[in-house]
Amino acid sequence: MKTNVAIIGGGPAGLLLSQLLMKAGISTVVIERQSRDYVLSRIRAGVLESGTVELLREAGVGARMAAEGIPHHGCILTSDDTMIRIDFHESCGKEVMVYGQTEVTRDLYDAQEALGAQIFHNAADVALYELHPDAPYVTFTHNGAPQRVDCQYIAGCDGFHGVSRQAIPTDVRREFEKVYPFGWLGVLSRTPPAHEELIYANHHRGFALASMRNPNLSRYYIQVPLTDKVEDWSDEAFWDELCARLPAEVASGLVRGPSIEKSIAPLRSFVCEPMQWGRLFLCGDAAHIVPPTGAKGLNLAASDVFYLTRALKAHFLDGSGDLLARYGADALARVWKAMRFSWSMTTMLHQFPDQSEFDLRMQRVELATLNSSGDARKILAENYCGLPY
Ligand code: APR
Ligand code: PHB
Repeated sequence: MKTNVAIIGGGPAGLLLSQLLMKAGISTVVIERQSRDYVLSRIRAGVLESGTVELLREAGVGARMAAEGIPHHGCILTSDDTMIRIDFHESCGKEVMVYGQTEVTRDLYDAQEALGAQIFHNAADVALYELHPDAPYVTFTHNGAPQRVDCQYIAGCDGFHGVSRQAIPTDVRREFEKVYPFGWLGVLSRTPPAHEELIYANHHRGFALASMRNPNLSRYYIQVPLTDKVEDWSDEAFWDELCARLPAEVASGLVRGPSIEKSIAPLRSFVCEPMQWGRLFLCGDAAHIVPPTGAKGLNLAASDVFYLTRALKAHFLDGSGDLLARYGADALARVWKAMRFSWSMTTMLHQFPDQSEFDLRMQRVELATLNSSGDARKILAENYCGLPY
């Protein structure tokens, strides 16, 4: 089969790119390793920057988000029992939308179906060929039958463990990585959120985050050692530890309930340069990973898709190749700023096994500066709500 752009990966990046390109009359084929149900079963963060909200609206998937999403005008950082509110409107005039990534992905699948998109699920043995100079193609197996997609460009939207990044030769690729010495134990529960805004807690027992999906669905996290296993944590032990780390006034009102999802995720910062090679362009987690402390994963996938959609439209619709040539540089400029913010939030809020008294004092001073300086809160708010594309 032939198409303009072959997209490897049917997660948020791949689906959003396919949706925007198809709406511009550029043909796509999406090749996804898992089933649709498996992709939709993933529990991921749910804070959308204003740029992401705008891009989803442009893609035609803004309706349910507008109806069910929750606009947030601020968030809370705590240091033991001190609560520091970051007022987004006051600091930068922006807001974020709380709307789960699972819902974003579901909306994108529905929209892609309505457009008659070609999405191959359960695709195996995906391989990329002829990335240089100009006749790329992708092969894969689907329902036991070999498939080949001849295309003009390949978008690698297949996440951190995908095959696309590996197609860039090791002598061309530069990878930057920082692995954090702890994980996040996350729980989803059908309970009302502990607070109307998100709470990021710095506590001597460890980091905690109180988040939500809707008024009856809460999402909580606590920092745990990398050696912990999910089975080490009963629901009761989780609730006790979470309440020990949240401010007493919040913990006292927190509604407990059975966990409907419980998992431990590692934290890493990772960037691959370049994000393009010949006719291959990397998008989203295929090119970079951020620790979830800054809620940037989905939002960086969206900004990559913004840059790549703009570049492919300029090529296919206006015959101009300049934006394609600089896609990687444009995307990376914003990626590195979000990488810094996510690293900064993670360093400020977590307990590190090897931290010194000096390190602890630096955390306290950074939080105290946020508490006392409107300019410090402004910088955090601008990064949290999303820097301009
Ligand atoms: N062939 C085809 N598809 C693949 C392959 C492969 N070899 N390897 C992985 N995939 C698929 C995965 O099954 C997944 O559905 O690629 C998709 C990548 O999706 P994500 O990992 O969600 O990455 P992305 O679309 O960039 O979205 C980034 O998702 O994981 C979160 O925290 C992350 O919020 C961020 C967002
Ligand atoms: C979530 O709701 O899952 C969430 C929110 C904010 C974060 C990370 C995760 O920074």
